Amino acid sequence: MVTAVAPANIAFIKYWGKRDEALRLPWNDSISMNLSEAYTTTTVEFSPRFTKDEVEGLEGEEVARVSKHLDRLRKLKGNALFAHVETKNTFPKGSGIASSASGFAALTLAAAKALDLSFDEKELSILARIGSGSACRSIPDGFVEWKVGESSEDSYAYSLYPSDYWDLCDVLVIVASSEKNISSTKGHEAATSSPFFHARVEGINERIEKVKEGLKKKDLGILGPAIEEEAINMHAVMMSQTPSLFYWSGKTMDIIQSVIQWRDEGLPVYFTIDAGPNVHLICEANNAQEVSRKVRILPNVESVVINKPAQGAHLV
Ligand code: PMV
Repeated sequence: MVTAVAPANIAFIKYWGKRDEALRLPWNDSISMNLSEAYTTTTVEFSPRFTKDEVEGLEGEEVARVSKHLDRLRKLKGNALFAHVETKNTFPKGSGIASSASGFAALTLAAAKALDLSFDEKELSILARIGSGSACRSIPDGFVEWKVGESSEDSYAYSLYPSDYWDLCDVLVIVASSEKNISSTKGHEAATSSPFFHARVEGINERIEKVKEGLKKKDLGILGPAIEEEAINMHAVMMSQTPSLFYWSGKTMDIIQSVIQWRDEGLPVYFTIDAGPNVHLICEANNAQEVSRKVRILPNVESVVINKPAQGAHLV
């Protein structure tokens, strides 16, 4: 029986759209930060006692997706035993905080270890990616880059900087903890139907450079505008694809407008949003309490969680 923990990650440069559906190969490089308070803990045991895969904590299609991922690992081992899987998140599943990222990263590591497969970080990242794209970025530590690659073998994530590199915070503002209607897996499939999709991919390298420069210089004044522009750009693609996909709600917009106002008043904080209505506020640690205080008194905020950069997937 093996237990692994893996963090969710917030994308500074987003992965949206797949150039290979089955292998989950992206169109562009992406960059993220692992989140200290949003993580999945997964325990896996393979045993002849089980007559099918049993997955506690998930339902329906999700169980089938886990089983399919276990098949990939069983195939590599040449082992046909069924597994018992138990998985728990510290945050609401399916609300745009990447539960599939932390979930598939933790599952990949726990199952590989339970099968006694010795993979290095790159191999684990590739396998996690095939489970759920952004999961490959929850394997390495801290601040992470996922390279597009030319094929499955070289599309993986690696650490740009460790978690203690920069005291950046993600003040996660939960405005809706219910599950979203359309999964990101479905959403990715329609991404290229947006008339803006290819323009986004063509222009993304400039933003990637800005994000990298901001990280290198630990300069939020460079990083912040680039991640906001990136979030708006990706959501413009989502909204204009067919069928259109609106992950933002009115509550999301209220938070965005407050952030812009606080910044005008001198508080250095920037927003980004993944596949859901919740908003991630990026600021430096010395401002995190103030951001959190301001956000908590806004209407419609269900909860607020301050995340620090975190290590990647690990065994416990
Ligand atoms: O890995 P998926 O299928 O959950 O896709 C994640 C998509 C975004 O969260 C919107 C962007 C990203 O890069 O994490």
